[in-house]
Amino acid sequence: MGAKIIDGREFAAEVRGKVKDHVTRLASEHSIVPGLAVVLVGQDPASQVYVRSKGKATVEAGMKSVEHKLAADTSERELLALIDQLNNDPSIHGILVQLPLPEQMNEDLVVNAIEPAKDVDGFHISNVGLLGTGRKSMVPCTPLGCLMMLRDHHGSLSGLDAVIIGRSNIVGRPMAQLLIGDSCTVTVAHSRTRDLPEVVRRADVVVAAVGRPAIVQADWIKPGATVIDVGINKVEAPERGEGKTRLAGDVDFEPASRVAGAITPVPGGVGPMTIACLLANTLTACCRSNDIPEPVGLTA
Ligand code: GUN
Repeated sequence: MGAKIIDGREFAAEVRGKVKDHVTRLASEHSIVPGLAVVLVGQDPASQVYVRSKGKATVEAGMKSVEHKLAADTSERELLALIDQLNNDPSIHGILVQLPLPEQMNEDLVVNAIEPAKDVDGFHISNVGLLGTGRKSMVPCTPLGCLMMLRDHHGSLSGLDAVIIGRSNIVGRPMAQLLIGDSCTVTVAHSRTRDLPEVVRRADVVVAAVGRPAIVQADWIKPGATVIDVGINKVEAPERGEGKTRLAGDVDFEPASRVAGAITPVPGGVGPMTIACLLANTLTACCRSNDIPEPVGLTA
């Protein structure tokens, strides 16, 4: 029997709907509108697309969206001044500085200048430390989206063997912390892991976040396992015409979907959950800063 295909578009729409309902209630019961500021430095085409999508989704959820677009040659000092202004703006509950930044900027310095309570990316070192010690924090959007999908599919994750492939600060490491928090037995595999196929074969839950197309093979998957594919890789697609490309995940999807119990496709799996979780984080940040109970099911 084939795997259940976990539809990230449908699930993300559900999360966005829940966020919107909460936002409506915040407005009517507390006269509060959550605000998200997104800062883009430079003209990177992919970043421009991301920032536009984030702004549009924010407005659709009934929240205030503010975009700051700065020239590529903006100084680090100017950017830090803007962050300071946003940190002190009570109408702004979430701040996101789109990465990568131009080379004259120190990314760590910039990210750590954001007020941790407004750090909707969850990249501030205080939030990393809070998550790593099992405390309440702002959680990076992509792993939060993966966690929501896993909880939705399994109910409880307690006692499951989880293997995460990839140890990045944005996905692999926070994913490990979240799954430890949900009482999984967690293994983080990476480029130096000996016998990766054998490690993956032990897993009830596989999260692939390597950035290499179709590296995870069907015969690495334990029958019935849940496979979350975070990879978004552009690959050549000659079948679509000369020079055409398509998106491929880190998992060899077709054969893997005949072995797995559930699997996320690429595109249409984890991708749409990232923006949905950005909205959820903005709402959470707004509730916490106003001492209003935070929404159930939209946080870790
Ligand atoms: N660039 C690509 N993905 C992200 C993200 O999740 N957050 C930020 N700030 N920049 C990014």
